Amino acid sequence: MNLVLLGPPGAGKGTQAKRLASRFGIPQVSTGDILRQAVKDGTELGKQAGPIMASGKLVPDDLVMSIVRDRLLQPDAAKGFILDGFPRTIPQAEKLDHALATHKKKLDAVVSLEVPIETLVERISGRRSCPRDGSVYHIVQNPPRREGFCDLCGASLVQREDDKPESVRTRMQAYEASTSPLKEFYTRKGLLRPVDGVGAPEAIEAAVVGALKPREATSGA
Ligand code: AP5
Repeated sequence: MNLVLLGPPGAGKGTQAKRLASRFGIPQVSTGDILRQAVKDGTELGKQAGPIMASGKLVPDDLVMSIVRDRLLQPDAAKGFILDGFPRTIPQAEKLDHALATHKKKLDAVVSLEVPIETLVERISGRRSCPRDGSVYHIVQNPPRREGFCDLCGASLVQREDDKPESVRTRMQAYEASTSPLKEFYTRKGLLRPVDGVGAPEAIEAAVVGALKPREATSGA
């Protein structure tokens, strides 16, 4: 299954992508995670992307596109993938279609997580991440067992640099201006599956799986 998770900052794309990746046995491909790792590693890509990400703006399409092309060619993505945070602009979506067609592939569905703005702000302000293994927590909704420390590896949790209020405002504006038009783009292709993104993560996962079913049945998957 080749899936895209669409939604504004804080909608729960990463949370659901991890759950679905484990359920379906296909990789989560998060452009945000790949870019953050590049920033941490101090690579050329990271040096270019870091300041842009910290400000909340979108990284240029060409940079992101080259990451995705390389990642989707890895053997673990041969049987399917869950794109999390990509595409984010119409040109990215068109280039993705083209890249997939070159390999005789296509998207099966685009799940749009629908979450009201007040909930997004609350989720983002309470998010804490593990800088070592990438685990994501929320100080109220999904707290770690020991406050401030990762359950899995014990590292001190941090707040993402772009989760500060000013960057969050810019990210929301970037979503409205550049990413939300993708809903219309994918509706026209018959791929959009809107899902209510409010509720317990397991209930949302079940709703996503339900939204995928008709397409799975038709394709025989
Ligand atoms: P990216 O990392 O993709 O960030 P984002 O889209 O802003 O999304 P977030 O990671 O903030 O939220 P999410 O929807 O994954 O929610 P999460 O599951 O963490 O991108 C970061 C930056 O990289 C961009 O601004 C841009 O600069 C650059 N970039 C990346 N891709 C790009 C592209 N394609 N083109 C150009 N630039 C690109 O959940 C949020 C919080 O809520 C967590 O604390 C979680 O525990 C909690 N939570 C989740 N679900 C629930 C629930 N159901 N109930 C209660 N709490 C919940």
